Amino acid sequence: MTEILTGASARSVDRLAQSLDRGLVPVAVFGDEQIYREELRKIFGHAWLFLGLEEEVSEVGDYVLRRMGEDEVIVSRGDDNNVHVLLNKCRHRGAVVCREDSGNTSNFMCPYHGWTYGNDGSWTGAPKRPRAYRQLDRTSWGLIKAPKVEVRWGLIFACLDPDGPSFEEYAGDALWYLRGFLGADSRGLHALGDPNRWITRTNWKSGSENFGGDNYHVATLHGSVSEIGVLPDFRDANEGNAQFDAGNGHGCTASANYAPSLGLTPFGFSQEVWDSFDKSDLDDDHFKFHETHLLLTFNFFPNFSVLRFLGAPDPDTGHVPNFLMVRTWQPVSPSQTEVWNWMCVYKAEPSEHYAAAYATGMQMMGPAGLLEQDDMAVWEGAAAAATSVMADMNGMEYNYQLGLEGMSAGGPADDLPGPVLGRHKSYSEENQRSFFKQWRKMMVEEA
Ligand code: FES
Ligand SMILES: [Fe+2]
Repeated sequence: MTEILTGASARSVDRLAQSLDRGLVPVAVFGDEQIYREELRKIFGHAWLFLGLEEEVSEVGDYVLRRMGEDEVIVSRGDDNNVHVLLNKCRHRGAVVCREDSGNTSNFMCPYHGWTYGNDGSWTGAPKRPRAYRQLDRTSWGLIKAPKVEVRWGLIFACLDPDGPSFEEYAGDALWYLRGFLGADSRGLHALGDPNRWITRTNWKSGSENFGGDNYHVATLHGSVSEIGVLPDFRDANEGNAQFDAGNGHGCTASANYAPSLGLTPFGFSQEVWDSFDKSDLDDDHFKFHETHLLLTFNFFPNFSVLRFLGAPDPDTGHVPNFLMVRTWQPVSPSQTEVWNWMCVYKAEPSEHYAAAYATGMQMMGPAGLLEQDDMAVWEGAAAAATSVMADMNGMEYNYQLGLEGMSAGGPADDLPGPVLGRHKSYSEENQRSFFKQWRKMMVEEA
């Protein structure tokens, strides 16, 4: 155990190893200050994290500001045409070097004393350098960089651990899912505008574990969206849903596909649009998967989530809006999370689809979205209960027992495609248990 975790905080993490076998998670995991501080180092300091779309930095000199854990980083395209991920803290005295959310520049000049860095992070100069810094070794004073950066399907991922697993190793079987969702057209995704951002009073794991596996809440929490007729009746949705444990804490939930009933291809597009996709990255199992499951959520451990959704058909044209949303759950404090949300379409889709896809995405999952508001309201509970005196005095634990031996209907779903550890129909929280197993593994590893 590390020096950060002591006393009750350490015991909560230790206890998780046994309690997970019984489907129980100590509430402190969602709100303890020490545990949160440790997560920033052990989880966010070692995981592969999503930072944005490559098209956001498509030109040499383009940059955007993003977060890795609580650290702000500059994601830039350097003069060398590579994507760089740079800690936004001046090496001289730590002042924030870049204060614009996005832009294009050849250099970043610190406003304090004027140290200047190239768009690849290298140290390029300082005022009066011949008199001030006659012996400074410029190769040692560039901005601190993420050692590992990968671009897949037009998405940028980075990892702060030079000795950790490669992206392939870390993603494992999740690669197959990501390829099916994000690489259905090999050109990847196009974001409909800048990411929306908003702060919620939740622990970051509430969003992650929900997107990674929570079929069970949909019928209750989001039932009103069915009742008012905005979406098809999914109040009995658990029976048609499935859960896919992709290993290493990554998880997927998927709902029965209703695209064929709307005269659409399995991915929810008209035949003409679907024919224009470059599907060369898909294999036979991808097609089988999407023939049976279209609506889905996915969480790439720890905090990168994907949602794929169809909206209601346009009453005049019959067009069915189809969007993919990618987002991160950025830790701000034990009880605060900043959501970063990109509404996307595939690059292959015609631009006349954009307005309907964006409107549907925002209507459902934007900061004021019908589904989003439901989730935000209830996710406050997990972090709040974690600081409750009564909860602590009574050793309160959260219940993740769906799908345990003898507990639930459904069970394994070995008939479904996909290279996964386990597939579960209907009532299961196997994915969430896997999420917390991975979380604990990383929390107790030496770093
Ligand atoms: S803090 Fe940046 S130049 Fe001094
Ligand atoms: Fe939800």
